[in-house]
Amino acid sequence: NTYHSEADTDFVLPQNKKWAETISKKWKFSKDTKHDIKPVVIGGEDLVDDRDVYTALDKSQLKDGVIAGKIAMATAEDLKKAVKVAKDDVDGWRSKTYEQRHKILKQAAIKVRERRDDLIGVAAAEVGKVFGETDVEVSEAIDFIEFYSYASRYFEKYENLDFKGKGVGVVVPPWNFPVAIPLGGVAATLAAGNTVIIKPATVAALTAYEMCKCFWDAGVSKNALQFAPCPGALAGEHLIGNKDVDFVILTGGEDTAAAMLKTRPDLFLTAETGGKDATIVTNMADKEQAIKNVCHSAFANSGQKCSATSLLVLEEEVYNDKNFRKALVDAAKSMDVGSVWDFKNRIGTLANKVSGNLKHALENLDDNEEWALAPEYVDGNDYMLKPSIKWGVKEDSFIHMNELFGPVLAVIKARDLEHAVNIVNATGYGLTSGIETLDEREVNYWRENIKAGNLYINRGTTGAIVLRQPFGGMGKSAVGAGRKVGIHNYITQFVDFTEKTYPN
Ligand code: SER
Repeated sequence: NTYHSEADTDFVLPQNKKWAETISKKWKFSKDTKHDIKPVVIGGEDLVDDRDVYTALDKSQLKDGVIAGKIAMATAEDLKKAVKVAKDDVDGWRSKTYEQRHKILKQAAIKVRERRDDLIGVAAAEVGKVFGETDVEVSEAIDFIEFYSYASRYFEKYENLDFKGKGVGVVVPPWNFPVAIPLGGVAATLAAGNTVIIKPATVAALTAYEMCKCFWDAGVSKNALQFAPCPGALAGEHLIGNKDVDFVILTGGEDTAAAMLKTRPDLFLTAETGGKDATIVTNMADKEQAIKNVCHSAFANSGQKCSATSLLVLEEEVYNDKNFRKALVDAAKSMDVGSVWDFKNRIGTLANKVSGNLKHALENLDDNEEWALAPEYVDGNDYMLKPSIKWGVKEDSFIHMNELFGPVLAVIKARDLEHAVNIVNATGYGLTSGIETLDEREVNYWRENIKAGNLYINRGTTGAIVLRQPFGGMGKSAVGAGRKVGIHNYITQFVDFTEKTYPN
């Protein structure tokens, strides 16, 4: 009974290319496709009637108006009921032994493995994620279930302690990892012996529903795991604001975390709140490898990862090297952007229309800035944005300090490594950080001085592997205990320990 990481799919193999075609056949809809409305799932019931319906568009087929699916939205009454059901389910999931829970969660991992194709397909249709990017998420999702379920055994080591779940957990995941992050939160909550309500991101709710089905089909009851898509404000009032919710797991913006704590200052909240992640390339780097790692970290999934490299800090000599700049631009240009259903594309569509910080960064050049690679949309589709690179970015500028969540890389010059580290630390975030250098002394200096949760040396800054690279940050990137996901003590947050008392 040990834990192993799940393997990803190699889409270069002919049989896997064929498999990808079958996924496309099932999930690439046409204008004429009729969609069932996916339900809200509360207290064992699938609820559709008399509820608002959200319609998701397939942004790869935007000009044809193709719909990716439809989903019902929970009402205030639904949310109140969900919390009551979750609280009252003491004889259900929460009363199970570790062994019983482990058995069911093992089955859930098997279901996710069996439905890798559907999870890839629905995420492609709904959030425009290319197959290869969701594929690694499905592996991570399987790892989360297996690892948390396995790790809950750890509690048994405390022989003089009783442990039980805190009660009711609410998971509020983002849309950018529509499989792994929602599933990780649900798996951790369940493994620790709690009931759970998931309020998915609306733009990724169909994927969250497919993910929940894996748990229900494995034997997790619809009281233990309830599915409550709804607008954020409603969730704020009726889930976060409900005193019977014992804890919340959020992955999202700092403002959402702040709003939750304003609603309920006593809330037990554990949140991962984004990043402004950097890769430093020193003069001692293998430059070709650096460019490969940086391009993947900055532009895969259109840069919509809290772990994405958004700042590239170059030591002066590298910055001034025209060949380096050209090679970086050429590499970024070589990443095809477009429909997720065309497998040559490495980057699909944005999940949302450009707005906020991303819009500002795309439309403005601050003092000294120039486009080394200017932003451009494909086929006039507002969701298909090609990689862009801003050169000459100054310290303390807008793009230095603000998270963008898009395919824009900001390049800053540093005098030396010490200066580079200061530039990175100045953002106040601290999620992931990368260095490209072959000099061990530089690595050691950087490791001592950089402030970030996940440090990557000569490797991209995205794609943490459960247990191998427990994931989480510090500074503005974390709220609450800031415990990392994918490591044993993550789930101890969701358990109460009491001392065992023995009769005299
Ligand atoms: N865990 C993801 C990564 O490492 C981000 O959430 O890229």
